[in-house]
Amino acid sequence: MAFVLAVTGSAVGLGNIWKFPYIAGQNGGGAFVLVYLLCVFLVGMPVMMSEILIGRRGRRNPVATMALLGQEEGSSSNWKWLGGLGVLAGILILSYYSVVAGWTVAYIVKSASGVFAGATPERVSAQFGEFVGNWRLVGLSHTVFMALTIFVVARGVERGLEQAVRFMVPALLVLMFILLGYSISSGHFGEGLAFMFTPDFDRLTWDSVLAALGQAFFTLSIGMGAIMAYGAYLPEETSITGASGTVVIVDTVIAMLAGLVIFPLVFANGLDPADGPGLVFDTLPLAFGQMAGGAFFATIFFVLLSFAAWTSAIGLMEPAVAWLVEQKFRTRAQAALMVGILIWALGMGSVLSFNVLAEFKFYKGTIFDNVDHITSNIMLPLGGVAIAVFAGWIMCRNSTAEELGGAGRLYKIWRLLVRFVAPVGILFVFLKAVGLLPELS
Ligand code: TRP
Repeated sequence: MAFVLAVTGSAVGLGNIWKFPYIAGQNGGGAFVLVYLLCVFLVGMPVMMSEILIGRRGRRNPVATMALLGQEEGSSSNWKWLGGLGVLAGILILSYYSVVAGWTVAYIVKSASGVFAGATPERVSAQFGEFVGNWRLVGLSHTVFMALTIFVVARGVERGLEQAVRFMVPALLVLMFILLGYSISSGHFGEGLAFMFTPDFDRLTWDSVLAALGQAFFTLSIGMGAIMAYGAYLPEETSITGASGTVVIVDTVIAMLAGLVIFPLVFANGLDPADGPGLVFDTLPLAFGQMAGGAFFATIFFVLLSFAAWTSAIGLMEPAVAWLVEQKFRTRAQAALMVGILIWALGMGSVLSFNVLAEFKFYKGTIFDNVDHITSNIMLPLGGVAIAVFAGWIMCRNSTAEELGGAGRLYKIWRLLVRFVAPVGILFVFLKAVGLLPELS
């Protein structure tokens, strides 16, 4: 139970409520959502199970675990580089994640001040635009959020965190249902539902498929060894399949709820589903602004979202800190402070991407766009291929069967997914999206 709570705390975060709706909106809805769900269940869940079983067998930080198991399974200790890739991915993701988490922290204050009461869509969008345009304010929120994260990681996490997640996830669900009630009554629920669940494959590009795959990895916290780090503490007798299934379902339900709340609001207010990273901040305040007790609910909502982001941020920092601590030349507090300051500094690039450096664009766009793309759509899926190959091809059947509780039917399905479906599928989508595979016709 403690393990499921910890992994749920890392999985449920901005990825579900902020990122999923805006990416689904940018990629045309229905077909994207369908591909996303396929990725979550056919690739995400088996890779999550692989990470947990690898972590439990190695019982060390991801770098040391991969080195140890690589040797134990008759391959090489060079698998440690996979752990290293994860450490780097965590640092890069947290650099921009903390900036968006800072937005949610700032929105607690805005909500409590009552500025959204009865606001028009134009006012709410202008509020967001002015806010992210002010680099000092955004930089300050980013700094506050990073300081809170460093503080917890420095002290060593676990116990309090589980209690927090036990309360936060149900509370978040309750608020999502309240919002769902509002969005159903807003009159455009059918339109939102159709946008999310009517697939139009003509609008689906290989870039969108890669974005769906990347989002599946991002939202489940997989592909970078973070779940491996949690797996190291999992007792022998706990069912890996059961734990993964619970996390995947909770995570998916929250993302779907976020979409079902946000898209009807988009259509009811004549907004654009492809609005981008500001989508949640341009829509939810409208709903809160019109319901009774809205300022109260909005404040609670952004507190919970900041909290969800916080439990994820701790997980993002953990691989780097655990690795430094096991290098023995740093105490935990020193390691957390060093890593945290590095992440904070990198994050300033994303802070400035919405104001001072908004026109500074290369490759996929601003600094923020690039860090997001490189981590979610390149590093995590490639990390996922390596994890799947390791669990499916390098580890012997006996080792994995032992961890997954015997070689039954479920085990055979898992092994098929991890040996063939995940690696081939990920590589195919990846090569298609970067244009390295030619059209067949
Ligand atoms: N899953 C988190 C979210 O949806 C983000 C995340 C990605 C993460 N990788 C992670 C969190 C690793 C903790 C550890 O918000």
